[in-house]
Amino acid sequence: MTSDAPTAPDEPGTGPGPHTGPGPGTTTDRGISRKTLLRAAVAAGAAVPLLATGSIALARDAARSATGESLPPTPFCDDGDDPTPDQMEGPYFKPNSPPRTNLVAPGTAGTRLTVSGYVFGRNCVPLPGVLLDFWQADNAGVYDMAGYAFRGHQFTDATGAFSLRTIVPGLYPGRTRHIHVKAQAPGDPVLTTQLYFPGEPRNSTDALFDPALLMNVRGAGGGKEGSFDFVLNVDGDPGPGPTDPPTDPPTDPPGGTWAAGRPYAAGDGVTYGGGSYRCLQAHTSMAGWEPPNVPALWHRES
Ligand SMILES: [Fe+2]
Repeated sequence: MTSDAPTAPDEPGTGPGPHTGPGPGTTTDRGISRKTLLRAAVAAGAAVPLLATGSIALARDAARSATGESLPPTPFCDDGDDPTPDQMEGPYFKPNSPPRTNLVAPGTAGTRLTVSGYVFGRNCVPLPGVLLDFWQADNAGVYDMAGYAFRGHQFTDATGAFSLRTIVPGLYPGRTRHIHVKAQAPGDPVLTTQLYFPGEPRNSTDALFDPALLMNVRGAGGGKEGSFDFVLNVDGDPGPGPTDPPTDPPTDPPGGTWAAGRPYAAGDGVTYGGGSYRCLQAHTSMAGWEPPNVPALWHRES
């Protein structure tokens, strides 16, 4: 392990890369919000879990619910209308990290931290088998360049979930507190990025800091729990395929040409329930997104 704090920060001053657009919670120029669609689906009775507050439940909330029921695939992201932004790798990445979800060796100094979350595709389908390779500084702000301390990779499980046991990384010159990670869905490009901690004084002065990459962090039993959901720029499972049972009902009570499970392009026209609708945004239709329920997708023309 290096004995001194690194003298070169992760290339500060070059900016946070090409993805400096709106972070979570902003709506500028995003077109149709995924949340809008999901809320419409909820309103239409689709099977999207809700919190008592009426907001869309995060998958991890459902997983931790008192029911103990297994988590169904979740057709939504936490907040992401955009893929998780990329960030530079920095000078301290090493290939061939060991496979492990616990980076904390016995006796290691530092505040215990668990980071958990899900990896989604852009269509908000959880992605299993995604490689997540984490690396970070130790409690003193030092990267282990001789060995593999605080380095490890894992794969998301069948529900797209991951969990990492580590410590809160120490600070080193030129950077705010952060954890590096590479994420790669099978057969897709690598996303290299960094995760940040809320409330850090250096967040406002680190040129690389991006609020879209902030974890949710809370205290837990003397340690901390962080969560972050990745959205990779991949399609994920498109849902029901040609070999799946048809989703259309055998009869068509509302009447019309619209059907679930079909790709529609902007400008396409359909009829549904006696009305004519024009598609405003390309999408694949699904039960619950019938034209009257999703005005963001369909404009009624008659
Ligand atoms: Fe770093």
